[in-house]
Amino acid sequence: MAIEATEEELIAGRGYEGLFVPALFAPWPKHLISAVGIEAGSHVLDIACGTGVLTRAALAQTGPSGRVAGLDPAPGMLAAAAEITPEIEWVLGTAEELPFDGEAFDCVVCQFGMMFFQDRQKAAAEMFRVAKPGGALSLAIWQSIDQNPAFQDIVAVLEEHVSAEAGNAVTVPFSLGDSGVVERHLSQAGFSNISVALHKETARFPSTRTMVEVELRGWLPLFGIHLGEDQIADVLEKSDARLSKYAAPSGEAIFDTSAYVVTAKKPG
Ligand SMILES: C[S@@+](CC[C@H](N)C(=O)[O-])C[C@H]1O[C@@H](n2cnc3c(N)ncnc32)[C@H](O)[C@@H]1O
Repeated sequence: MAIEATEEELIAGRGYEGLFVPALFAPWPKHLISAVGIEAGSHVLDIACGTGVLTRAALAQTGPSGRVAGLDPAPGMLAAAAEITPEIEWVLGTAEELPFDGEAFDCVVCQFGMMFFQDRQKAAAEMFRVAKPGGALSLAIWQSIDQNPAFQDIVAVLEEHVSAEAGNAVTVPFSLGDSGVVERHLSQAGFSNISVALHKETARFPSTRTMVEVELRGWLPLFGIHLGEDQIADVLEKSDARLSKYAAPSGEAIFDTSAYVVTAKKPG
C-alpha cells in the first residue's frame, strides 16, 4: 500500500533516518534479530518500525521467500522507509490495534517503541494474537536515564537553556526502565519463556552539538516545542560546556547507551 505523507512529515522522517538512526539506533537490530532467531522464509512483524532500520535487517535474514512487515502510526516515518526499501510491506497503524490476522508471524519485534504506546497491555495482547503458536518476540527498551547519563546531560542543557518542558520531553524514551513492568505485561498477555538481557552500545554523533540539535529539530517539535534559528544557535553554543566531555579527538561525540532486550515465546 502506498503511504501518503505530507511534505513536512516526509522531511521529518528523512531527518530521523539521516540523523538519529546512524547515531543511535543502527547498533541495536542485531540484538533483537539474534534473540528471536529470524531464518530464511520467516514471517516477521516489526512494530513501531520508524524508518525501518530493524525491518531492513529482518529482511536481510528472511530473504525474498519470507514476509516482512513494518508498522508505525507516523506516515512520514513510513514514507521515508518506503523510499529506502519499497519491497517491504509498510503498514500504517498502532501497536494497540494491529491490522493483521491472528497467528500470522513467526517473529514479532519492536525496537525502542513500547515506551510510547498509549496502552501497553493492549499492545502486548495484540503481539500475542498475531504471533504463530511457538512464535518468538523481542523488544528493545532503553534503561532508565540514570543508566544513560549522556541524555541526563542533554536534559540539563535543555532545562537550563530552553524550558523544563523541553527537558522533560527528552526523558520520555527512558520512562520504561523497569523491565519488571514489561515482563508482567507479556506474562499477562500469555507469553512464556520471558527473559531479559542487558546490552550496551556506542552512540556516535558527528559532534556534541549534533547531540542537542537532533533533539531541538527532530524531537521537541513532536511535543509542540518549536525554536527559532537564533535560539537553536544560542542553545547549541551554550551546550559546549556540559557536553565537551563526550567529544572524541575526531570531533565526533561518542558515548555508551544502555538498553535491555526482552525475549518471549508464544506457547506452541
Ligand atoms: C524511537 S522511534 C523507534 C523507531 C524504530 N523502531 C527505530 O529503532 O529506529 C519510536 C517509534 O514508535 C512509534 N510509535 C509511537 N506510538 C506508537 C504506537 N502506539 N504504536 C506503534 N508505534 C508507535 C513512533 O511513530 C516512532 O516511529
